[in-house]
Amino acid sequence: MTQGWLTTEAGAPVADNQNSETAGAGGPVLVQDQLLLEKLAHFNRERIPERVVHARGAGAYGTFTVTADLSRYTRARFLAGIGKETEVFLRFSTVAGNLGSADAVRDPRGFAVKFYTEDGNYDLVGNNTPVFFIRDAVKFPDFIHTQKRDPYTGSQEADNVWDFWGLSPEATHQVTWLFGDRGIPASYRHLDGFGSHTFQWNNEAGEVFWVKYHFKTDQGIRNLTQDEANRLAGEDPDSHQRDLREAIERGDFPSWTVGVQIMPAADAATYRFNPFDLTKVWPHADYPVIELGRLELNRNPRNVFAEVEQSIFSPAHFVPGIGPSPDKMLQGRLFGYGDAHRYRVGINADHLPVNRPHATEARTYSRDGLLYDGRHEGAKNYEPNSFGGPVQTGRPLWQPVPVTGVTGQTEAPVHAEDNDFVQAGDLYRLMTEEEKERLIANLSGFIAKVSREDIAERAINNFRQADEDYGKRLEAAVQALRG
Ligand code: HEM
Repeated sequence: MTQGWLTTEAGAPVADNQNSETAGAGGPVLVQDQLLLEKLAHFNRERIPERVVHARGAGAYGTFTVTADLSRYTRARFLAGIGKETEVFLRFSTVAGNLGSADAVRDPRGFAVKFYTEDGNYDLVGNNTPVFFIRDAVKFPDFIHTQKRDPYTGSQEADNVWDFWGLSPEATHQVTWLFGDRGIPASYRHLDGFGSHTFQWNNEAGEVFWVKYHFKTDQGIRNLTQDEANRLAGEDPDSHQRDLREAIERGDFPSWTVGVQIMPAADAATYRFNPFDLTKVWPHADYPVIELGRLELNRNPRNVFAEVEQSIFSPAHFVPGIGPSPDKMLQGRLFGYGDAHRYRVGINADHLPVNRPHATEARTYSRDGLLYDGRHEGAKNYEPNSFGGPVQTGRPLWQPVPVTGVTGQTEAPVHAEDNDFVQAGDLYRLMTEEEKERLIANLSGFIAKVSREDIAERAINNFRQADEDYGKRLEAAVQALRG
């Protein structure tokens, strides 16, 4: 902001910003004091609705650089050619807490990346976990209600959390992950990111591949124990946000090595796990992670509200060469985010500086709405037209894929080795003895807070089905805590 006289919003010089205008020095305030009224009214409207999930977060700009040429799998131009650079904005977040909650908590971390490509913005709205609690979007609002505040007590309740997880056995894998060591990252710099869903890549020849993205932290994984986190959350609720900003300020730019697992389309039907089931990983032995690039964060936002709070990310923001898979969660998300943005930030949210394309321009015939900036000037607002306005390309961003069957509300197809427990059990068996002890302590401490025996027992039974030893130790630990 330039120096000079303080002004009103309309630019008139302000004479006195310390005293309201009154009728006599000790008298009541006059309605003609427009500076006072304007300031109070503007202040009342400073907040916009916080995100219904992932409200608490921090963001930074940076650069994505291609380190391996995978253009035989995708025609996405920002991925073509070693050394090619694309500007990015990445927002990290927790999921359940409100805007003012603490950073050092046990919760997945959001890992949302916006690539400002020459073909428009590509958003990858993932987490620091490769899987999720549920596999169908229709369950998402119910799930989140159990993570948020109970309508009667106004607090998060162990009863609700474990009731839902007990009744949703597909959550067992992600819950095992969350209560293990990686459940509380030490900072935003010391965690991995995942696209989590399966996405479509398609190449110039029109061939289709299914891919999963991995962002491996170059800082190394670092986590907090429950006790360390409890202390830090009290002492410095902004710990993660501060750590990220300060690292960038001192030039210690965090980076991630980006890779993809690539599955030829023909494999999908017979793969041992349903490749579109978000509760499952593709073991690396089946599909290795192939290096793709490097992502570095190197610039802090200048204004947190404008660039972080008003930033919007949508899983539906694709670019040529990349598209959705039939993952039911992803399909639901394709609707959910744009709708949230229109509600939370408004119909012109896409045109704010942090959200608009940076390496190209948006050319649409949509117009007006709240806070429209007139960027189209006098151009025609309909298409087709005879005035040289923007025209369609005739080439979809992604390739068509075959579908079969009849319509209906049915469960996702189950593949040869699919069940709700197999990968949770595999994860448990991979842990060292010390890791298992911490996992059991973390889980039992929370389950012991459940007030109803049947809810606790149903929850424990899911872990028993994942691995006999897992269930037995958890049951004993919960009983010991309940006394
Ligand atoms: C059907 C399931 C889901 C629905 C309906 C849903 C919905 C939402 C909504 C409405 C927001 C707030 C958006 C905003 O106000 O800007 C959000 C944020 C977010 N979600 Fe989801 N979500 C789902 C599943 C997931 C999954 C599976 C992941 C990760 C793999 C994920 C990652 C995120 C992230 C990272 C954000 C924060 C984005 C940001 O930083 O602005 N969500 N979600």
